[in-house]
Amino acid sequence: MVVAQALSSQVDIHALFGGVVPELAARKHLEALYPLTLKVLEEGETSLGDLDCIGVTVKPGLVPSLLVGLSFAKAVAFGKGLPLVGVDHLEAHVFSIFLKEEVAFPFVGLVVSGGHTSLFFVEGYGDMALVGQTRDDAAGEAFDKVAKLLGLGYPGGPVIDRMARKGDPEAVEFPRPMLGKGWDFSFSGLKTAVVQYVREHGEDLKDSRHLAHVVASFQQAVVDVLVDKTVDAARCLEVPRIVVAGGVAANSALRRTMEERAKGEGMEVFFPPLSLCMDNAAMVAFVASYRFARGESHSLDLDVSSRVSYPRIEP
Ligand code: KG4
Ligand code: ZN
Repeated sequence: MVVAQALSSQVDIHALFGGVVPELAARKHLEALYPLTLKVLEEGETSLGDLDCIGVTVKPGLVPSLLVGLSFAKAVAFGKGLPLVGVDHLEAHVFSIFLKEEVAFPFVGLVVSGGHTSLFFVEGYGDMALVGQTRDDAAGEAFDKVAKLLGLGYPGGPVIDRMARKGDPEAVEFPRPMLGKGWDFSFSGLKTAVVQYVREHGEDLKDSRHLAHVVASFQQAVVDVLVDKTVDAARCLEVPRIVVAGGVAANSALRRTMEERAKGEGMEVFFPPLSLCMDNAAMVAFVASYRFARGESHSLDLDVSSRVSYPRIEP
């Protein structure tokens, strides 16, 4: 149960630079953490002394930001004598759905965000094997880069999602990278194809209808690849359930297409509510709570990591 939740968004600052600047992000974390903690405790009508443990993201991600969060969590844990539980950010995304409803195991989990595109076979709480991941750009990163290229602002996903509703997704034939070739993803070639298209048709893009067609076609290419590989993995692994999480899970075309395709295959699809798709602390607390309940906690020499490795299942 979520007692209280608070979020400090850095979107306005990152929008000035068209993307996340690691140094700036870490500084903003430092400024935000203390007042945000006070706010959430007040909203939850609770105090640090009432807590069972402190959950904190330690991997994977931008090290400067992770370090700020972990240092703050360590200080609170030490000061209040509370256990510290380090959490994997991707595991938190996969299990964010559980804050809304429980999903039966096993399921296939697709995490699509600005930093990650990873496909998991999930057999239990925290029990995840990697079945596919991006070899270059993440899906959200592709949305952000294409939006920047077209001068649509940051973050690109929501703008493209909205604009694509007015366009024809079949107007421009963009490539579907690595389709039919296993469960790994690649989005940099698709981004390059959009760059190429813009070079050749720059003038046409001044017409907002044409721009909408390009945006819708790009979005459909991303969605087709994500849906095809996820459904294929679920079919091959004989798992009739799919969970989609992360910022890009907010995408309306992805939701619609995944639901249609899965229904045709007799599979169920679960999407967290929009507020839980984006990065949030509730999903991190949820993972910390089940890990703590089964006796896990970490010492104060816990460190962060930009990467994380999982057991791997090949197609
Ligand atoms: O999970 P998240 O909040 O942060 C990361 O861990 O990266 O995901 C942010 C990403 C951004 O790249 C943003 O453009 C994308 O999610 N995003 C979307 C939509 N809303 C957010 N992408 C496509 N369609 C959307 N509606
Ligand atoms: Zn995330």
